[in-house]
Amino acid sequence: MNSSLATVAYIGATILFILSLGGLSNQESSRRGNLFGMIGMAIAVLATVFGPQVNSGGYAWIIGAMLIGGSVGLYLARSVQMTQMPELVAFMHSMVGLAAVLVGFATFVDPTATEGYEGAAKTIHALEIYIGIFIGAVTLSGSVIAFGKLSGRVSGNPMLLPGRHWLNLAGLLVVIYFGSVFMGVHTVEEGMMPIIVMTVIALLFGIHMVMAIGGADMPVVVSMLNSYSGWAAAATGFMLSNDLLIVVGALVGSSGAILSYIMCNAMNRSFISVIAGGFGTTSAKPAAAGGEQPAGEVTPISALETAELLREARSVIIVPGYGMAVAQAQHTVFEITKHLREKGVNVRFGIHPVAGRMPGHMNVLLAEAKVPYDIVFEMDELNDDFPATDVTMVIGANDIVNPSAQDDPTSPIAGMPVLEVWKSKTSIVMKRSMASGYAGVDNPLFYKENNRMLFGDAKKMLDEVLTALRT
Ligand code: TAP
Repeated sequence: MNSSLATVAYIGATILFILSLGGLSNQESSRRGNLFGMIGMAIAVLATVFGPQVNSGGYAWIIGAMLIGGSVGLYLARSVQMTQMPELVAFMHSMVGLAAVLVGFATFVDPTATEGYEGAAKTIHALEIYIGIFIGAVTLSGSVIAFGKLSGRVSGNPMLLPGRHWLNLAGLLVVIYFGSVFMGVHTVEEGMMPIIVMTVIALLFGIHMVMAIGGADMPVVVSMLNSYSGWAAAATGFMLSNDLLIVVGALVGSSGAILSYIMCNAMNRSFISVIAGGFGTTSAKPAAAGGEQPAGEVTPISALETAELLREARSVIIVPGYGMAVAQAQHTVFEITKHLREKGVNVRFGIHPVAGRMPGHMNVLLAEAKVPYDIVFEMDELNDDFPATDVTMVIGANDIVNPSAQDDPTSPIAGMPVLEVWKSKTSIVMKRSMASGYAGVDNPLFYKENNRMLFGDAKKMLDEVLTALRT
C-alpha cells in the first residue's frame, strides 16, 4: 500500500472514530457507535500493517503478535463477568501504558529511529521519548493499582504518606532534572541512567497517586487513567511518527478528561485535588477497614410484604446499584417494572453517576434488559421527586443513597451528591447483609423509620416479589 492510500485510510478511520464517539453519547445510537469504532479500528490496523512503515519481512512477527493478542483478547472478552468489567478496563489501560514504555525504550535504543534527526528535531524527538515513557509508566502502575482496588486485591482505603505532596514535588523536580540531562546525551549508554531513574519515579508516582485515593473517589481515577492511556497512546504515536495513533490517542485522552471532569462534578470534587490524591481525607476520618460496625435497629420486610406495598403504590422509583450487577437481577427488575406499569403504576429509575463500578454501568444493564430509556432518569432529574413517591426500591445500592454524605461532614463521602431515597414514603433496601458498600462506611438510611430491609440476593428476592405480584 503506498503512503497516500494509507493516509486516506487513516483519515477514513479517524472520521469513523469521531462518529463512534458521537454515537456512544446516546443509548439509542450506541450500537451504531460501536460498529463505527470496530470498522474504523479494522481499517486502521490493515492500513498500518500493509502501510509504508512496515516492510514485508515484519509480517511474520506482526501476524504472530496479532494471533497471540487477539486470542488473549477474545478469551478475556468471552470469559469476563459483567461485574469484572471495570477491572478489565483498568487492566487494558495498564497495557496501553506498558506499550508506551516499551516503544519509548525501543525507540531510544534503536539507532535507525533517530536517523535524519539533527539539532532541534533531535531534541524534540528525545523529549517525545522522555514524556512518552513518563506518561506510559504513570498509566501502567496507576492502572495496576486501580485494577487491584477494583478487584478487592488492594484495600480501598486511601494510603496517605506523610508529606505526600512534597514527595510528589521532589519526584517531579528529579524527573525534570534528569529530563534536561537526557536532552543533552549523545549515546545510548549515557541516556540509559536518566531514563531508567525517570521510569522508576514515574512508576512510583502512579502507585502513590492511586493508593492515595479513597474508595468513593475511585470513579474519577478510573476515568482519569482512561484519559492518561489516551495521552500515552498519543505519545507512542509521536515516537513512531504515526499520525493515526496521535489522533486516536488525543481523542481518547480528551474524551477521558471530559469524562473525569463530569465525574468530578457529579461527586462534588475538585479535579486538581483528586489528581493530587487523597481528596478530603485530611479533614475526614478514613473509612474503617472492612466497613464500620452498623449502629441501630433495622426493620426487615419480606418479599410478600414488598409486593403488597408495590401493589398499593401509585408511584415507584427504582434505584439500582452494584449489587444488581452482582446478582444479575436486571431482567427480573424489568419484569416487575412491566407488571407494575401495566397496572398503571408510575415506575421510574434513578441513576447515580457513579452507581456500580464503571461509568454508565447501570445504563448498560438496564439497556440489556430492555428497560425503556424514557423511564430512566439521572439523579438530578429525579431527586426532587422522592417526597411525592410512595415506594423507592434500592436494589443492591449503598453508598449512592447514604444520607451521611449530606449530614456528616466527617464522613469520607461527605459532600458527594446522593439520591435522597429516604424522603419517599417508604424505602426498601435490598441487600444480603448489613455490610457496607465500596466506600466502607455505615449507612444511616438502613435505620430510618420509613426504611425497610429486604435481606437476600437481589435476583432471588426480586423473583419472589414478582411471583407474589403475579398471584
Ligand atoms: P456499593 O456502595 O458498593 O454497594 C453495593 C451493595 O450491593 C453492597 O452494600 C452489597 O451489600 C450489595 N450487594 C452485593 N451483592 C449483592 C447481591 N447479590 N444481591 C443484593 N445485594 C448485593 O454500590 P453503589 O451504591 O452502586 O455505589 C457505587 C460505589 O462504588 C461508590 O462508592 C462509587 O464511588 C464506587 N465506585 C464506582 C465506580 C464507577 S465509575 N461507577 C468505580 C469505582 C468505584 P451486601 O454485601 O450486604 O449484599
